[in-house]
Amino acid sequence: MRNSALPLSTNKHLLAWVHKMAQLTKPAAIHWVNGSEQENDQLCAQMVAGGTFVKLNQDLWPGCFYSRSDPNDVARVEDRTFICSLSKDAAGPTNNWENPRDMRKRLKGLFDGAMRGRTMYVLPFSMGPLNSPMSQIGVQLTDSPYVVVNMRIMARIGMPVFEEIDRDVKRVVPCMHSVGAPLAEGQADVSWPCNKEKYIVHFPETREIWSYGSGYGGNALLGKKCFALRIASNIARDEGWLAEHMLILGVENPEGEKTYVAAAFPSACGKTNFAMLVPPEGFDGWKIWTVGDDIAWIKPDATGCLRAINPEAGFFGVAPGTSAQTNPNAMATLARNSIFTNVALTPEGGVWWEGMTDEPPAECTDWQGNHWTPEIAKKTGAKAAHPNSRFTAPASQCPTIDPAWEDPTGVPISAIIFGGRRATTMPLVYQAFNWTTGVYAGATMGSEMTAAATGTVGKVRRDPMAMLPFCGYHMGDYFRHWIKIQRGLSETPRIFHVNWFRKDKDGKFIWPGFRDNMRVLKWIVDRAKGRAAGRETPIGWMPRYEDIEWKGMNFPVEKFDDLQAFDREAWKTEVIQHEELFLELHDHLPAEIIYERELLICRL
Ligand code: OXD
Ligand code: MN
Repeated sequence: MRNSALPLSTNKHLLAWVHKMAQLTKPAAIHWVNGSEQENDQLCAQMVAGGTFVKLNQDLWPGCFYSRSDPNDVARVEDRTFICSLSKDAAGPTNNWENPRDMRKRLKGLFDGAMRGRTMYVLPFSMGPLNSPMSQIGVQLTDSPYVVVNMRIMARIGMPVFEEIDRDVKRVVPCMHSVGAPLAEGQADVSWPCNKEKYIVHFPETREIWSYGSGYGGNALLGKKCFALRIASNIARDEGWLAEHMLILGVENPEGEKTYVAAAFPSACGKTNFAMLVPPEGFDGWKIWTVGDDIAWIKPDATGCLRAINPEAGFFGVAPGTSAQTNPNAMATLARNSIFTNVALTPEGGVWWEGMTDEPPAECTDWQGNHWTPEIAKKTGAKAAHPNSRFTAPASQCPTIDPAWEDPTGVPISAIIFGGRRATTMPLVYQAFNWTTGVYAGATMGSEMTAAATGTVGKVRRDPMAMLPFCGYHMGDYFRHWIKIQRGLSETPRIFHVNWFRKDKDGKFIWPGFRDNMRVLKWIVDRAKGRAAGRETPIGWMPRYEDIEWKGMNFPVEKFDDLQAFDREAWKTEVIQHEELFLELHDHLPAEIIYERELLICRL
């Protein structure tokens, strides 16, 4: 095996940058990551010895490891996330901004000596298949071996990426990461080093990412939200494509025709479940194929059709609520070679989380290392798994992974779906009249706040295209970019809005969701292919009862009417509420969005 201390690249820029960053952060050693299995085994063993990892019972969970984070490092930190563009105006009012010069000075101070006593890993990664012209390359310097082994699942890493960097054809995005916990001479390490002070910083013009203080998820696996969404949205705007918070799936009908759709839902609205949907009774011969569950890079091809790749290679999914009933394909995917963080550990050396089984285990160790039993939970409300606990699992292990998921040219997109979590107003499904009305629907989408979050219960939090925390520039300019993209297309995908969460007068969900969402998806595909009927309403085209495939389901027409009801008064309130977002963005809003609102008001 090659000595991991020796550079694995001959690229002068990379070598100079690594040298400069090592001088700043002062690590005890440098490890060039080759990405091999042997190297991965060694890093996992090292983390088991140091207490960061627990090797799970290999008979039950082959190739799987378990980790518990610091209780102060359990989720993305949006209030510590910055877009440091040259001008504040370019970042827009929905992003935190600081002058890049001041921020660089601060980061330099924080990173000075930040890796003392630790190893700095030089981790090359490709977002998207290496042979794809749509892929992008980054190098993350990190002092976290946990990050290295997670990134090995979430992206393509190692030698082939160094070789690509040495060919010097693609720009490399430098990603600087430290958990911010230097070790003094002789100081013992903790199992989850991190720092109370956190900074997740993006410099869009120079395409740089600097992350400090966290080892968790989107804060630390920099290929995901930081690169594939915040930096990539900037690259996409400049180059004429879209970097979106979307799943991609293929619908195959019994005749073997396959139609791909991309869908944006806010975090925790069931994207992973939808991406791996199992068709319900009555859909013999239908199949759903998974291309991605979180991020889509969508680009017009030479003929003017939109094609999409999933830039990721794994799923970083929320564990609670995932079960053999809600998502059997996810359960099969995570059954081996996966990493579990902040779920519960069972006495047999397995993992458990709320919703995984109907019966909880008699006892386990919870995500904070405390003894947990169902009785204790009843008394104290203690959760066995943290609500944002995660599995990191290879996409290639998904039983429904699409044969074309690594196609370097991507898959053709025929429909785009936007959706939120709305108890009222929003019907189960409607189709926008055209691309611009569709962009308006995406721009104004949102979810009602629940009691779990601070804020007014029932108030709608707007999350345009599910990109509020992920768009790396001004939201108004982002809408303009969406509108502009269509002008170059020969074939325009149809745009739809869905809401699985409408409630009846008694506060009960009207639609069962999950597998039955296939019925909605079939109508969407049939509309996109121009072979399903619908009726015109002021907000768009809606299916009539008879336009939906009901085979295998007994759903009364009256309930469907409630689900699809167009409530004129509620929509009048809705459209007034849209103004809130638009006031904030007004000086960058494209005229089309303003006129779309006017037209909607006229139709109401
Ligand atoms: C995610 C998110 O982790 O959207 O995917 O928050
Ligand atoms: Mn996401």
